[in-house]
Amino acid sequence: MRQARVYGIASLAALVVGAVAFAQSTAVPLPEEAPVQAAPLEDNAVAELADAQWGDAQRGATLAGTCAACHGLDGNSVVREVYPSIAGQNEPYVAHQLALFKSGERPSPIMQPFAAPLSAQDMRDLGAYFSTQSAQAGIADDGLVAAGDYEGMKFYEIGQQLYRRGDTARQVPACMACHGPTGAGMPGPSYPHVAGQPAWYTARRLQEFRDGTTAERDTRMFQVMHTVAQPLTDEEIQALASYMEGLHPRPDAATRAQMARLQTAAPAETPGTMGLEGRTVDPETTIPAGAPGSPEASGIDPATTDEAATPAEPVQQQ
Ligand code: HEC
Ligand code: HEC
Repeated sequence: MRQARVYGIASLAALVVGAVAFAQSTAVPLPEEAPVQAAPLEDNAVAELADAQWGDAQRGATLAGTCAACHGLDGNSVVREVYPSIAGQNEPYVAHQLALFKSGERPSPIMQPFAAPLSAQDMRDLGAYFSTQSAQAGIADDGLVAAGDYEGMKFYEIGQQLYRRGDTARQVPACMACHGPTGAGMPGPSYPHVAGQPAWYTARRLQEFRDGTTAERDTRMFQVMHTVAQPLTDEEIQALASYMEGLHPRPDAATRAQMARLQTAAPAETPGTMGLEGRTVDPETTIPAGAPGSPEASGIDPATTDEAATPAEPVQQQ
């Protein structure tokens, strides 16, 4: 139970820090003049994405200034206690979420006014830009769990185990099967990048998925995560969020292959926009093959073990 109290205190502290940071960020264009009501919700924002072309990162960069006050110019949150990061997030996911904010299907009084003026092409361009940025990671909680089923484990290890192996008995799939071993996501099916995200945000999203209430009209994507999150306990959600915050992201082989494929399929006007320049592989943060907890050691779904078979250098595109 010590753990529960620690979380109580930690989340209180986070709230206080968040409130202070929020109060201090006076330069942030918060929607004080209630443009929320003023901006009409656009019914067809999500549908319009299909008609837009694959995003142009350079054009996206020119639009990203509006986002910088909260998400940082490079997509790394300026106040991690308050805003999620979008650096390294894939193009289709960013565009889809922006369209959901615009249509009101994903309610957010903060994001809606920023999404409202964007065209479908703007959304895709912004997505392409942020996908080229590198996400910073946080630090996972390695405190010892004092009681319960996971007694004696480090807190993040609860999350690591579920992330890499899932729990077959409860039909929880391994998160890495879709989000990748390093949390880099998969742009093809639009599985989001999750590495390095502030833990409170990941935990909140997982709770939303578990609760299963959404205003989205097309709930297919949401349902995927609803099924995944349903069996998770609060402790497991917090531990997963902590583990993912500590993941240092780099696109794995499958993700890079997909990015390359999508780029070839995209209109040829914008070569190099999905380039991964700036991403480097930090050997410190790469789990060595065969080490405890590595995909090789834990008998992971073969679909995700491409990684081991393919050299890990980042793609250099020019
Ligand atoms: C005033 C601060 C603020 C600004 C400016 C802002 N955002 Fe956000 N953004 C947020 C907050 C807060 C959330 C979390 C919303 C929620 O779920 O409650 C968010 C969420 C998002 C998400 C969803 C992230 C995810 O992982 O699901 C995307 C994508 C996003 N913003 C993109 C943008 C883009 C692109 C811009 C610029 C056009 C922008 N934002 C401007 C505060 C801001
Ligand atoms: C079958 C594929 C699949 C598996 C397995 C999966 N996810 Fe997801 N995940 C998705 C999809 C699809 C979305 C986007 C949902 C949406 O758009 O509403 C998503 C979204 C998320 C998000 C929201 C990201 C954001 O930026 O808002 C988080 C967090 C997440 N997943 C965590 C997990 C965790 C933790 C696990 C393992 C317990 C997991 N996922 C397993 C497909 C998957």
